[in-house]
Amino acid sequence: MQALVLAGGQGTRLRPLTYTTPKPVIPLAGRPFLTFMLDWLRGHGVNEAILSCGFLSDGVRAVLGDVYGGMRLRYVVEDEPLGTAGPVRLALDEGVLAERLLVLNGDVLCDMDLTAEIARHEQTGARCTLALIEVADTASYGVVPTHPDGSVERFLEKTDGEVPTNRINAGAYVLEREVVEALVPAGRAVSFEREVFPALVGDGLYGWHADGYWIDIGTPERYLEATYDLLAGTVPSALAPRDETGSLIGPGCLTAGARIGPQSVLGAHCSVGSGAVVDRSVLHDRVQVGADCEIRSAVLAERVRVGDGARVEAGAMVGEGARIAPGAVVAADARIDPDTAVEAGEALA
Ligand code: GTP
Repeated sequence: MQALVLAGGQGTRLRPLTYTTPKPVIPLAGRPFLTFMLDWLRGHGVNEAILSCGFLSDGVRAVLGDVYGGMRLRYVVEDEPLGTAGPVRLALDEGVLAERLLVLNGDVLCDMDLTAEIARHEQTGARCTLALIEVADTASYGVVPTHPDGSVERFLEKTDGEVPTNRINAGAYVLEREVVEALVPAGRAVSFEREVFPALVGDGLYGWHADGYWIDIGTPERYLEATYDLLAGTVPSALAPRDETGSLIGPGCLTAGARIGPQSVLGAHCSVGSGAVVDRSVLHDRVQVGADCEIRSAVLAERVRVGDGARVEAGAMVGEGARIAPGAVVAADARIDPDTAVEAGEALA
């Protein structure tokens, strides 16, 4: 089975992390995010994944290489962003598309039963089958009602009002190549959600009711939520065992006299000074936190340095290589750009 993973978005909502690292390979619980997706795909018989990249594509290839756990990885790189369906057309034109394939949004962490989705696709004779997952709050998603035979009725845009179903498009499709040939024009950006799927309603588009764990990691809040869920084992994964605080400490970290946890992740070669607290926070590789600092529900990207006695408050995200001066405070929900210097007394929000 072949899968095409859409991994070329700019990830604007996850800035500043995505200024320097493409979203598909941002570390999640200490591993490049896409490795979770590739493990999941391999578990459902996928032996070849096409990674559809554009934005910072060299970074994706440098991290993942050409083979992952026995799975072949191919890269299709676009010069201009082609949206969600345009990249699949590009892969077709490059001659690498199988007759039937899975198409995945590259920012979803889930354990949906893709094998069952493929079986359903064969059973209905669909041209395209969408995984539909139930969410508690549909306000930030469009919903997709289906007929009793599973065919898609229509696509409803996001709304705060009443909706006929709380099933949303989970970003995992089984797709026949002929749909791409027939409905996706070459050479321009094309959206599955806005152009291709609406044109397929009543003409071979089916939904499959998925259940299990599902989250898209595309916002700071959900990135942290996915981290906590992985640490707690809410979603199955091959993570190393967590310590007694439910935290994951990478190799080569120095933390004597510091309080790490609960639910925190330290990447490789981090140091945290004595008397410092790292609480429900994520430190990527080689982060240095001084003595007596407080880091709470925050994300510090690679090589960030935090001076003694500084504080990083809840929801803050600090970009790669930024330096926080001793005693400085990074306010709640602040976004600090890569390589910025934050001085003590500077009010940053
Ligand atoms: P935001 O800018 O924060 O909305 O994130 P995003 O750029 O990732 O967009 P979005 O979350 O809507 O994208 C859903 C999936 O499609 C992600 O896995 C993206 O990487 C991918 N994607 C979005 N636009 C493109 C594109 O133009 N080309 C490719 N190859 N993938 C894309």
